[in-house]
Order: sequence, then structure tokens, then C-alpha cells
Amino acid sequence: MKTKSKAAKISVRLRSASARQAKRAVAASTHAVVPLKERRLNFGNQWDFAPAPEDSRNYVIAPRHELFINGKFVTPKSGKYFESVNPATEQPLTTIAAANAEDVDSAVKAARKAYDKVWSRMPGRERGKYLYRIARIIQEKARELAVLETMDGGKPIKESRDVDLPLVAAHFFYYAGWADKLKYAFPGKTPSPLGVAGQIIPWNFPLLMAAWKIAPALACGNTVVLKPAETTSITALRLAQIFQEAELPDGVVNIVTGAGETGAALVNHPDLDKIAFTGSTEVGKVIARTIAGRSAGLRPGSTSGGLNRAGSESGAPRLTLELGGKAANILFEDAPLDQAIEGVIAGIYFNQGHVCCAGSRLFVQEGIYSSVIKKLRDRIQTLRVGNPLDKNTDIGAINSKPQLDKIKMLVQSGIDEGAKLTQTQCVLPSKGYWFPPTFLTGVTQAHRVATEEIFGPVLSVMTFRTPEEAFERANHIPYGLSAGVWTDKGSKIFKMVNQLRAGVVWANTYNKFDPASPFGGYKESGFGREGGLQGLAAYCRLD
Ligand code: NAI
Ligand code: MG
Repeated sequence: MKTKSKAAKISVRLRSASARQAKRAVAASTHAVVPLKERRLNFGNQWDFAPAPEDSRNYVIAPRHELFINGKFVTPKSGKYFESVNPATEQPLTTIAAANAEDVDSAVKAARKAYDKVWSRMPGRERGKYLYRIARIIQEKARELAVLETMDGGKPIKESRDVDLPLVAAHFFYYAGWADKLKYAFPGKTPSPLGVAGQIIPWNFPLLMAAWKIAPALACGNTVVLKPAETTSITALRLAQIFQEAELPDGVVNIVTGAGETGAALVNHPDLDKIAFTGSTEVGKVIARTIAGRSAGLRPGSTSGGLNRAGSESGAPRLTLELGGKAANILFEDAPLDQAIEGVIAGIYFNQGHVCCAGSRLFVQEGIYSSVIKKLRDRIQTLRVGNPLDKNTDIGAINSKPQLDKIKMLVQSGIDEGAKLTQTQCVLPSKGYWFPPTFLTGVTQAHRVATEEIFGPVLSVMTFRTPEEAFERANHIPYGLSAGVWTDKGSKIFKMVNQLRAGVVWANTYNKFDPASPFGGYKESGFGREGGLQGLAAYCRLD
């Protein structure tokens, strides 16, 4: 009996012990104590917004786009066309004329004629009127242009609508204002135009880059042959219609579409007085070499008798290059952290990271490293990736398949070299080109992802201890386009700004643009400035 009761007692004790364990297990499953390092904000589906697509049905895209030469849309002598697709759906949007050297020659001849007969002779106040008119029509058609930009290039409508288009109009307004005041821009000088400008632009800000190039050139009295990027030509050709509507004299702006060969044909044309290029450092170097090899005697066919209109004795056109970048965004311990994180996010994920001045290297001061990583990880999870035409989308489509392949290849190289990957967990659309917001930690200066331009939504995170270390490491790459500094101390900002070898340095903000502010790079990021007075100087001869 006694034994039995002892056995019973043990069994009760055992039962209650296992019940306690079971209870603990249940508690653990509902209120799991996740180690601090792994804790995440979990919003469930509360960040899902109802779809809010911009209506694109009203804007009809013609099935075929021709070249814009001498004020008219003309079929290409090449007889060739290529497709432009919507990178979010892979659907073809239209076919676009591919200009060959003969087509480029017609465009340059039209520009030369318009320069000699009309535009260079026109008083600045008259040129200004055309630029104002163009700016106002752009404002009127801003929504349509934003939709086309988003469909052809993949950028979120909220960016094309709220950033690109207002800046496009602002550039035309700004340079319209200078057209009759050039001698005040350069006191003591008599500015005169250079002649015909060949301008080649990339696909990341198609209309904005067209505005950056065309507006100052026209304000100074030059005429233009513009070559848009092959994946994003639709808005440039829509802009050509706006020039027609504004009754801009024929030949003042000509648009030749096509890929690299068309660009090369333009660069090789012997009758240009200026070449302005924005794009990869690789192509920029090819252009610089081509022009460097030219001399007065090597300009057959030039109507300016071997010397270009800019009076350059070498006969080579003037050149400005705006090339790649790998900006350092430097985060000090005393920075207002939450604002800084927003700046870091805007710096790298704006326009899917297809931004030459993107803050693609984040340098974090060691003391705040773990909280910065945690905040970044949580913040990227709230970014909405998907339909670029949806007004709630933060991250649109990657511009093209080759660009997506390049991003994937470079991210993989980072992983292979030992970096750790963190990405937004989300379902990507099944069609189209997509890459989720990504950051890499454990990156060292020797990794490719620390020095090469990825041009995608990928941030490489590194640490530093002192301001000296920060600027030395920030400068220790071939690029020098832009940088960011985040700190509460004004003195530290000045110290950094004076040491950073970058054309633009933002302090406690990032990716801010204004037509009055010059933009351009050091080292392999190019030379020459666009925007502001410096942007005018690049299109004038100053005697
Ligand atoms: P890219 O430099 O080839 O294209 C830019 C423009 O140059 C396009 O209009 C293109 O048709 C034209 N082009 C190409 N080859 C040419 C040549 N030989 N002569 C004259 N014009 C020529 O850039 P891509 O291939 O589209 O992109 C490759 C990489 O370049 C990107 O991954 C990115 O890293 C970088 N890139 C940088 C840009 C920037 O703004 N910093 C813009 C575009 C690309
Ligand atoms: Mg396209």
C-alpha cells in the first residue's frame, strides 16, 4: 500500500512535470522568445495597399516611331526598326527606327542649316520664348509623359510623375530665363554659341537627361542632334511632337534613335562642335579616345574647313562626359538615425538604383552598426515592389534583361567573395525584370561590389571608425560623382565636404536636384558640369 502510494505520488509528480513542460512548449510556440538579434517587425499583410493603377488607356502609343529630322518624322534610310518593350510585362510597346550613319548625317546637316540660317541669328529673347513655350507644354502633358516614361522604362509612376516630370519642366524654365541674359551670366565676356551639339543620353532618366542636354544648348543658341537610349526612346519622340507644337524652327532639335552604333555614328560625324554624353564609363572612354584622335586635318566633309565652329584648333568637338559612380553615403554615430535611414533608402532604392549618383556604398560608424543594420532590414521589408504604374509602388522594374543579368552577376560575385545578403521578402511578378531591394554586409574594399557600379537596388555596407578613415575609403575608388554625409555636427560636414573627391556632396539629405545646381564628376565619373551657370558655360564660347 505504502509502495503503491509512493508510486502514485511519483507518477503524479511525473505527470505534472510533463504538463508543465507541455504548457511551456505551448507558451513558447505562441510567445516565442526570439533572440534580440533575429527579432523583426512583423506587419503581417498590413502593408498591402489596394491596387491603385494609373490609367494608361488614354495614352495611345503609335505602333511605329520614325526619326525626327528637320522638324519632321521621317523613315530611316537604314530601313531598320527595333522593338521597345515594357520591362514590367515584357510586352512590346512599339517599333522604333534605327538610324544609320546616313541618317545621322541628314540630322547633322539639318542641325547645321538651322544653326547657320535661323537659331544662331535669333535674339536670345526670342529663343527664350520657345523654351518657355516648350516648358509650359511639358507641364500640360506631364501626366501623359510620366505614364509613357513609366511604361517604357519601368520606373514607378510616383517617381516619373513627382520627380522626373517636374524637373524636366523646371530645366526648360530655368534655361529659358538665361537665353536673353547670357552676358550677365558671364560678366565681361561676350558669350557666343558653339554650333551643332551631338548629345547621347542613357535610359535611367530618359526625359530628364534630354532636358538637361537640350535646354542649355538651345538657350545658348546651339542646335542639337540627340540620341536617346535604345530601351527608352518613346518619350524623346513625344518631346519631338511638343517641339512641333511649340513651332520650334525646323532642324533646331533632331532626334536619331538606335543603339550603340547610332551613337558611335554621331560621335564619328565630322561636323559637330560639341559632344555631350551621359552613360557608362566604358563608352565614355571610347568617345574620349575617338575625339582625342581627331585633328583639324582629319575632318573630311566638315563645312567649317577643318576647324570646328568652337574655334578649337585641334578640330575636335568640345566634350563633356557624365559617367558612372559609386557614391559613399557616410553615416556618423551622431546622425539623427531614423532620418538617415530614410536618406540611405532613398539614396540607393530610388529608381531601382539606376542612378549614377546613387548612394550605393554605405559607410556606417562602428558604434551604430548593429542598430543601422536592424533598421535597414526592417525598412526594406516595407518597400513595395511591383507594377510601376501602381501609385503605391516604391520599386519598379529593372530597365532591361541585360541590366538585370548584370545586377544578378555582381550580387553573386559579392556572395562568392564572402558578403552576406539581405533582401526584401516579397513575391515578384512572374513576367518582367525584377530585383528585390538588397543590401550586402561583410563587404570589404577588395570586393567587386565595393568598387564596381551595380546600377541596381543593391547597397554595399561597410564600417569605419574615424572621419579620416571614412573619407579616405570613400575616395579610394576610380569614381567621384557624388557622396552623402549624415551627422549632427556642422563642423564635421564641412570637414568631410572639403575632403571628399565628389562633384556633389549632400549633407543630411540625398538625391536632391535643382536646375540651378551644377552636377558632374571627378576622375572616371567624367568631366564638365550640367545645370546652373556651369551648364551654360559648357555650351558657349566665351571671348
Ligand atoms: P551605355 O553607356 O552603353 O549607354 C548609354 C548611351 O550610350 C545609350 O544611348 C547607348 O545607345 C549609347 N552608346 C552605346 N555605345 C555607344 C558608342 N560606342 N558610342 C556612342 N554611344 C554609345 O550604357 P548601358 O550599356 O545601357 O549600361 C551599362 C552600364 O553602364 C550600366 O549597368 C551602368 O552601370 C552604366 N550606366 C551608367 C549611367 C549613368 O548615368 N552613370 C547610365 C547608363 C548606364
Ligand atoms: Mg522600353
